Order: sequence, then C-alpha cells, then structure tokens
Amino acid sequence: MPRMTVNERPVEYDMDPQTPLLWALRDASNLTGSKYGCGNGDCGSCMVLVDGAALRSCLITIEEAEGRFVTTIEGLSRDRSHPVQQAMVAEGAIQCGFCTPGIVMAGAALIQRNASPSKEDIEAAIPNLCRCGVYPRLVRAIERAGRVARRQETISAAPAPGISNEDAAEAVPALRPITPSSDPSDSGDD
Ligand code: FES
Ligand code: FES
Repeated sequence: MPRMTVNERPVEYDMDPQTPLLWALRDASNLTGSKYGCGNGDCGSCMVLVDGAALRSCLITIEEAEGRFVTTIEGLSRDRSHPVQQAMVAEGAIQCGFCTPGIVMAGAALIQRNASPSKEDIEAAIPNLCRCGVYPRLVRAIERAGRVARRQETISAAPAPGISNEDAAEAVPALRPITPSSDPSDSGDD
C-alpha cells in the first residue's frame, strides 16, 4: 500500500495504487480543500504541493506519490497566514472560491522559489482556470505576497469565518443535515 507524508503526517493508503492522489486526499483523508474540476489536468483546482512543487493531484497516482511529501491547502498554514492567502484576501482575488485552493498552492510554490515574480512569471506558474476571472487581481495578489515574503510589507491574517457551522446551516438550507422531518420528499407514509 502506498505510503507518503501528507501535511507532515505519515499516511498509508489502503487503496488501489492507481487511485489518483486527489481521491485519496479527499475520500480517505477527508482533505476536501483540493477540488475536482476537470480530472484532465486542465483546471488546476486539484493542485497540491508534492516535494514542494505544485502538481495536479488528479494526474498522479498514489503509487507515483509513494514516499513523497504532500501538502494540501489544509496543511499550508493553520491560520490562513501564508502570504499568498493573506494577499489574495486583501486584493479581493477570491470570488466563488472553488478554484482558490489550487491557485493558492500554485502561488505558494512560485513564491517559495521566486519571491519577486514578474507578471509573466505569475501567468506561467499559475495556469489555473478561474471562471470568475480574478486574473488581474491574482497578479496583484501574488506580487503583494512576494513583498510580504520579502518582508517589505505586512498584511494582517485573513479573518476567521464569522459564522459557525450551525449558524451556516441555519442560513443555507443546503447545508442542513437531512432528517425525516426536514426532507420534503419524506411524507412519513411508509
Ligand atoms: S481536477 Fe485536476 S486539473 Fe482539473
Ligand atoms: S474564484 Fe475561481 S472560479 Fe470563481
């Protein structure tokens, strides 16, 4: 069974070695921050760090990840204080958010190897698709994250969510657990 280190913890996946890393992370490790967008390597929403490089986790199997160090968005920072996270919030570079974890991981890998990237460097290193079109803001955010990484600027940590899971379920019906009394399809006539 493939073994690797995920977010600094040793993991052994009791799964088919050909399982894409994305599904092992999401289904077996419950690390659902990495998203499934296309499954073809086109969108980048599944991007994670493997030995520090941003890779599309839908394209590598857990057999190929054997013995490697994997970092997901959950392991990047405990409090969303990574410069890329701070700068993306500060620049409003997060819209629907679905593509955001993959973008953050690609940006983090870039800033790690080049804290003064040009616009061209950013566009080459972050090929992720974003239907909301945050690209101009994304470039500004990554440039700003580089300044933070170079200690030329500070940004306050992104605020914690201002809502509890329970309150979110109250506000968003789709988040409520289905119970016999709340499921309209359950008439109770068995
Ligand atoms: S889901 Fe992996 S690149 Fe789109
Ligand atoms: S924020 Fe990327 S698709 Fe909307």
